[in-house]
Amino acid sequence: MSSDLSLLIRQSRILLPGGEFMVGDILCRGREILMVAPEISVEADKEIDATGLTLLPGVIDPQVHFREPGLEHKEDLFTASCACAKGGVTSFLEMPNTRPLTTTQAALDDKLKRAANKSLVNYGFFIGATSENLPDLREANPACGIKIFMGSMHGQLLIDCEELLEPIFAEGDRLIAVHAEDQARINQRRQEFSGITDPAIHSQIQDNQAALNATKLALKLSKKYQRRLHILHLSTAEEAELLREDKPSWVTAEVTPQHLLLNTSAYEEIGTLAQMNPPLRSHHDNEVLWKALLDGVLDFIATDHAPHTLAEKAQTYPNSPSGMPGVETSLPLMLTQAMAGKCTIAQVANWMSTAVAKAYRIPNKGAIAPGYDADLVIVDLDNYRPVLREEVLTKCGWSPFEGWSLTGLPIITIVGGKVVYERGKVYTDVRGEALRFDG
Ligand code: DOR
Repeated sequence: MSSDLSLLIRQSRILLPGGEFMVGDILCRGREILMVAPEISVEADKEIDATGLTLLPGVIDPQVHFREPGLEHKEDLFTASCACAKGGVTSFLEMPNTRPLTTTQAALDDKLKRAANKSLVNYGFFIGATSENLPDLREANPACGIKIFMGSMHGQLLIDCEELLEPIFAEGDRLIAVHAEDQARINQRRQEFSGITDPAIHSQIQDNQAALNATKLALKLSKKYQRRLHILHLSTAEEAELLREDKPSWVTAEVTPQHLLLNTSAYEEIGTLAQMNPPLRSHHDNEVLWKALLDGVLDFIATDHAPHTLAEKAQTYPNSPSGMPGVETSLPLMLTQAMAGKCTIAQVANWMSTAVAKAYRIPNKGAIAPGYDADLVIVDLDNYRPVLREEVLTKCGWSPFEGWSLTGLPIITIVGGKVVYERGKVYTDVRGEALRFDG
């Protein structure tokens, strides 16, 4: 489609910015939403009859690891973005632990070029902090933020002490996103529990205290410098309670579907496929995280899509790598929870799109309204389908949610006014755009 062709979506149940629904039509021209009304009487280049289906803003997944460059045997920007299209994810923010690391403008430019060539959905990238790249952290552009691994990392990307963290918080004003785990505590507990090959020990080695220690330190530095801080994949009841008591207005936090819906009992069922960082926690943690999300203590949802091959995952713990894929299942998982009465569909759309656009200051995204970008997902909330290994599009070829029966599956995904996924077919000629970040 040329850039200013029109698309008319007829008679879906449209989620409006205020959180209410309206059955109606929406007209897009080029990449933009032009009109939302009960009925629009114009001829369009393409028409979709979406009667009985629900129209939501496309998901913006604010934490993914798409492995390109350097680790393309696990995933690449093409396969990952196909999985995004199927999952209703129209934009993603990707992490710097690729090879080479995304710690310089040159590495960032390289990723942006690769994504422009290969990504079916919109993209943004973090710049990774090392102990030596303060100028890059200040100037790299466009970057959605600075990523700091306080733990669960090795090599240059590990910033595991206050002396190294402090100058990063002190200089500049762009958002800092932290993987908050206390590496010294993890190292010590790894020794204590060495020799144990049951993957369930992972949740004890990298325990709740390890996460809490790091989150406390990040909060302390954020308060000292009034620095925008985002806590990635917050996983414990203790961290949620800490934020409930003391969360400055410039701090945000996210939670993953797996930390809400899976817990340590998953190791018995899926072994090392349940291994991730920060680890799965207890049923009690699931419940406190849900409450914190519902109460607005936690701001939004990210998948931390971190694919590893089944062969890599088949290694014995602790040689098995941490991480699980998520972009294909996150929206249906959350909509299934909404349909079960756990939350509302409007809350899901806020957590998976609107609130992310706001925190990362991404203009014109996260709502269905005239002037906004036509990044949309049409979902079916009437039927349920199981997650099947043979149907996943991520290159790693598995999901921790196989066998789960889900509703809210995307029927059509639209990126910049173009259909990128429709009823099982991915339109591989569509390309997303680089996201902009205002400030
Ligand atoms: O489990 C994880 N795996 N957590 C992370 O934060 C990184 C990731 C990876 O890149 O494999």
